[in-house]
Amino acid sequence: LQKSRVTVVGSGNWGSVAAKLIASNTLKLTSFHDEVRMWVFEETLPSGEKLSEVINRANENVKYLPGIKLGKNVVADPDLENAVRDASMLVFVTPHQFMEGICKRLVGKIREDAKAISLIKGMEVKMEGPCMISTLISEQLGINCCVLMGANIANEIAVEKFSEATVGYRQDREIAEKWVRLFCTPYFIVSAVQDVEGVELCGTLKNVVAIAAGFVDGLEMGNNTKAAIMRIGLREMKAFSKLLFSSVKDSTFFESCGVADLITTCLGGRNRKCAEAFAKYGGKRSFRRA
Ligand code: NAD
Ligand code: 13P
Repeated sequence: LQKSRVTVVGSGNWGSVAAKLIASNTLKLTSFHDEVRMWVFEETLPSGEKLSEVINRANENVKYLPGIKLGKNVVADPDLENAVRDASMLVFVTPHQFMEGICKRLVGKIREDAKAISLIKGMEVKMEGPCMISTLISEQLGINCCVLMGANIANEIAVEKFSEATVGYRQDREIAEKWVRLFCTPYFIVSAVQDVEGVELCGTLKNVVAIAAGFVDGLEMGNNTKAAIMRIGLREMKAFSKLLFSSVKDSTFFESCGVADLITTCLGGRNRKCAEAFAKYGGKRSFRRA
């Protein structure tokens, strides 16, 4: 049996943690090739060195995930086309605004039998209406695309604190189970649900609620108000999701991708942090990134 090769497209905060999780599993599971390729959007560091070279030398993403070893089997590659060429499993984890350009570059450059998963929380909004990132990937590249969302603040998973996640799939349970095996560890428990749109919309829409929660924090309105924002926000996420896709299931909102991600993002996410700073300082002062 051919071993599956995995490439992670993206190497920010969550991308680097995803590569670390996956790399710990590919070493243990015989159905996967040990090496995990990670495409790095190349940057020159203040030291003058290239980020991808430093990652490969130090086994650490010194810019986006400092202090965490990724695993020796993670190989950073700044050449996108080269990074994906042999992969049968593609993990997309960049900020959403770069995905259209990335997909365009990848047409005809990936294996025909490749399968994808998107960890991206966001959507493209076009004149014709909203477009889910998993739809963008599957339509532009002609491949199956699942999603993985959940209460997953990357820096906590990086130090192996317990969390859960949800894989959303359309039809093929077997493919979803393969993704679950690739990501699951004793501290990262993954389950699959047949509701790709519901899972992806949860991961996308909770960011809007987190901005409201950040405003509440910045204006020092208190915990009760923040809880009200979260409750009403969840209800609105559900109504909006069902308006876009009537197939979205109520039960999805009780998975990690739903209520749990909403809570963690409203407590500790970067969207919340930005909104709090905006409400406090009117966008005038700078603040440290995550
Ligand atoms: P990040 O915000 O830490 O970093 C940004 C990344 O974008 C860097 O790798 C940077 O090199 C890259 N980049 C900059 N310009 C680019 C360009 N022109 N083309 C391509 N890439 C470019 O990234 P992240 O935290 O890994 O976030 C990726 C996705 O994961 C987002 O959709 C986010 O919502 C989601 N997510 C993040 C977390 C988290 O805790 N950080 C958790 C769950 C999901
Ligand atoms: P932020 O991008 O707001 O940090 O959210 C992280 C996240 O998605 C946690 O699950």
